[in-house]
Amino acid sequence: QEGLFQKIIAHAKEYGFVFPSSEIYDGLQAVYDYGQNGVELKNNIKQAWWKTMTQLHDNIVGIDAAIFMHPNTWVASGHVASFNDPMIDNKDSKKRYRVDHLLEGKADQLVAEGKQAEADTLLRKMNDLLNANDFDALRELIINEKIACPISGTVNWTEIRQFNLMFSTQMGAVAQDADTVYLRPETAQGIFVNFLNVQKTGRMKIPFGIAQIGKAFRNEVVARQFIFRMREFEQMEMQFFVRPGTEMEWYNFWKETRMKWHRAIGIPAEKLKFHDHEKLAHYANAALDIEFEFPFGFKEVEGIHSRTDFDLGNHQELSKKKQQYYDNEVNKNYVPYVVETSIGADRTFLMVLCNAYTEEIGKDAEGNEKIRTFLKLHPALAPIKAAIFPLVKKDGLPEIAQKIYNDLKLDFKVFYEEKDAIGKRYTRQDLIGTPFCIAVDHQTLQDETVTIRHRDTTEQERVKISELRNIIEKEVSL
Ligand code: GAP
Repeated sequence: QEGLFQKIIAHAKEYGFVFPSSEIYDGLQAVYDYGQNGVELKNNIKQAWWKTMTQLHDNIVGIDAAIFMHPNTWVASGHVASFNDPMIDNKDSKKRYRVDHLLEGKADQLVAEGKQAEADTLLRKMNDLLNANDFDALRELIINEKIACPISGTVNWTEIRQFNLMFSTQMGAVAQDADTVYLRPETAQGIFVNFLNVQKTGRMKIPFGIAQIGKAFRNEVVARQFIFRMREFEQMEMQFFVRPGTEMEWYNFWKETRMKWHRAIGIPAEKLKFHDHEKLAHYANAALDIEFEFPFGFKEVEGIHSRTDFDLGNHQELSKKKQQYYDNEVNKNYVPYVVETSIGADRTFLMVLCNAYTEEIGKDAEGNEKIRTFLKLHPALAPIKAAIFPLVKKDGLPEIAQKIYNDLKLDFKVFYEEKDAIGKRYTRQDLIGTPFCIAVDHQTLQDETVTIRHRDTTEQERVKISELRNIIEKEVSL
């Protein structure tokens, strides 16, 4: 499966989806750029999320808050005090590791050796000790399990220390006077501090939600697995404000609703599962992940968290501004409870890409076996919806094909190409996941029909030019 993942990473680069950031300088660790096809795919994912969350829900509205926020925000949210990872250094290689990653790596190794029960015990122990902040015992566990540094191969470990994951910078021109500000580590706080602004100006009635898509930054110490864990990434978050006491009902509602969305964008049920948290984040009273089966195993894509009044309550206390809502159904003022859905746009991108990457054994024109690689993307997410090709570069075929192209481009992202044999042109579209290829041939001159080739089956059918818009429209909506 490691081989498959490497192929997907190479494919993403070769076909203009994802490039390492500042690659000419050998890249910047855990930072990536999206290329010409990647940006389209990512935008389509964000649009699919935004539409489902805001347009199809009467009581959810969006905002776009700034990345910089008042430093007190992160005191109230608990990030200054608790957004830490326990880390350990290897004395020989001087390399630093996240304690949970070292132990999870060991557990994976045990599973590979068929020792599932031992792996489970190890992970349970780890979670207990992490919850108890018992760093001495965690270090002992690492040493007893003989976990070696992957670089030096030795078990010569330092004490465990905590590192805050927030990036900080200075605001203002004079460094000495400047305030330290953070790059937000989650978008959620921009929603919390605007809770009353939106509630009042939008005359929102509880239960209601506020959604946002935006960048977040975390100084992840162990940044690996391509765009799975990045230092600069994008989150799509929604905070749903509810009456205290009803939060579990909404938690279950969002759990099911969000799972349906993953299915709607084309992820098969068997590659998705829920994972209830044993170890709760500092703000939650219940939490679960939606996990996807990546080539490196089932891993979190989205979190659903019941955050109680933790955030609004703390902001109220620190800002001295009431964060309350008058609920006229129960005749009461209260600080609402919050159920949050939080999903990474980049991680969703990786899920969609891994799920779409397909290799099929087929036959070439001479009947030899060959592998056809294509991206089986949901048409709604595909960077390009249709490619239009004249079969040959003469006899008036390019003119007709261009007319079709100019007509369709008003509604869809489409592509025109007349260079190279048509088989080659089909292959190039398969590799970026274009669901339809439309070919104009000599028969078109007679009856105004074209062939439309379907990416997944490679089957072609003849249709009227006038039907093209409807055929595409039907497939590209979610
Ligand atoms: N507001 C809650 C919150 O931020 P989280 O579980 O820390 O919760 C939510 O993050 C989602 O954001 C994750 O499920 C993941 O999809 C994405 N995410 C978090 N850290 C990430 C990183 N370093 N790189 C890429 N995506 C990340």
